[in-house]
Amino acid sequence: MDRAERIALTLAGILTTTAFLGIVFAAYGMGVMVPTSIKDMKPFERDTVIQISDRHYEIHYIARMWTFFPQEVKIPVGSTVDIYLTSKDIIHGFNIHEKAVNLMAIPNAVNHVRVTFDREGEYRIVCHEYCGIGHQMMSAKIVVYNPEVEDEGG
Ligand code: CUA
Repeated sequence: MDRAERIALTLAGILTTTAFLGIVFAAYGMGVMVPTSIKDMKPFERDTVIQISDRHYEIHYIARMWTFFPQEVKIPVGSTVDIYLTSKDIIHGFNIHEKAVNLMAIPNAVNHVRVTFDREGEYRIVCHEYCGIGHQMMSAKIVVYNPEVEDEGG
């Protein structure tokens, strides 16, 4: 390896590292969510809500024409939710407007995003990828409630 090659390789290494650190910084330093495709997670067969610990949940979402499962999930305010998403038929979108979540539901793949819900309310999940005649009505919701308030009205 001559000197020029060595310099080129070093430069390439520096650039790669810088780009990687930039992503890490964006993800953790600035609170920007970076959707991740999980290669080693097998697409799951059913929708599941798992409580990992106090105010930490995992939700396995399944998209299919033309709905999402689970349809409605209730979590206490301040919860961090790991959303895992797959599709049982074609490509769908998964958008939570208030949280700037934009994921793709892809058959035979799992995508992941981590969201913290620090405000009470109803968060609507909609499909934002055209998927046929029922696309417009394809939705679900996450209800974020305050457990300290007694009368939730249901
Ligand atoms: Cu599913 Cu549009």
